[in-house]
Amino acid sequence: MQRDAGDVSSTKPSLEFFHYKGVKFTKGSIYTEENLRFVESEFQVQDDDVYNVTYPKSGTTWMLQILSLIYSNGDPARTRTVPNWLRSPWYETTSGQKCLKDLTPPRLISSHLPSHIFAKSFFTSKAKVIYTLRNPKDVLVSLYHFAKIMHVFEDPGNFDDFLDVFLRGDLLYGSWFDHVRGWMQMKGSSNVFFITYEELQQDLRGSVVRICDFLGRQLDEAALDSVVENATFKAMKDNKMASFGYVSNEFLDHSKGSFMRKGISGDWKNHFTIAQCDHFHRVYREKMRNLPVKFSWDEDWTEEGAPAL
Ligand code: A3P
Repeated sequence: MQRDAGDVSSTKPSLEFFHYKGVKFTKGSIYTEENLRFVESEFQVQDDDVYNVTYPKSGTTWMLQILSLIYSNGDPARTRTVPNWLRSPWYETTSGQKCLKDLTPPRLISSHLPSHIFAKSFFTSKAKVIYTLRNPKDVLVSLYHFAKIMHVFEDPGNFDDFLDVFLRGDLLYGSWFDHVRGWMQMKGSSNVFFITYEELQQDLRGSVVRICDFLGRQLDEAALDSVVENATFKAMKDNKMASFGYVSNEFLDHSKGSFMRKGISGDWKNHFTIAQCDHFHRVYREKMRNLPVKFSWDEDWTEEGAPAL
């Protein structure tokens, strides 16, 4: 394994945080306790809503692009003229709440919220969630680089320090393990669909077909081709509306890195030492113990007999 952690010193200002029901949020204009309470207890989910839910850096923006294209029958015009955060706002943010008012149903809504603080009204509705997961070691690497350029994240320090932070879950939106375990409790529910970043990479077209089936939407071959063509890494990197190219420097320091960083699976191999990998797997095994689901990245240590995702 090779080190490619890019340990550069950062000039990011320090941030303040608050916790909402055990989950860490950054204090400031984007997250407020009042808005989180509203989202959890009062927000009215509509039966035709579709929620794009992830732990950060698991493929949120990719799924948002896919869903936007499915909703427009493959026509890329809107994905080239309207920034992604207006097409599918993050409803737990104060700015996202304001944008929701301009959405016409059926609404596409994004979220990084863990299930225990997700809108309660979802659980009695017919609305749908698409939950995208990614190999947590790649999530960690992606987040490590993103935290250096995105201002709502604390400076990640060096890679070893950040590994500890990630394993403790002491970061914005809390622990990856809790997030995945929480949402996995919905497995088997007819209105929650699980898919992995790795599946999207291995077979984007087949994944789009599966998502369409779940949403009850029929796309013809030309529309499917267009969804796939406009949701590749390159197409999204070239489209500033799909990749936060127009987010102001106040939030994202474009001079230090790109949101569309590498877009590959397995970059963790370029970052983890063998000792760090061992440490990660030990914590992973403990935290994911008894979860009756097998992921492509944990076949070495998941209990035998668990169903494949
Ligand atoms: P990397 O940092 O590993 O490159 P999120 O949208 O949840 O924040 O996830 C961002 C990650 O998804 C980044 O990963 C980004 O490059 C990757 N990504 C975004 N669009 C992609 C696409 N079309 N194909 C592959 N990866 C994509």
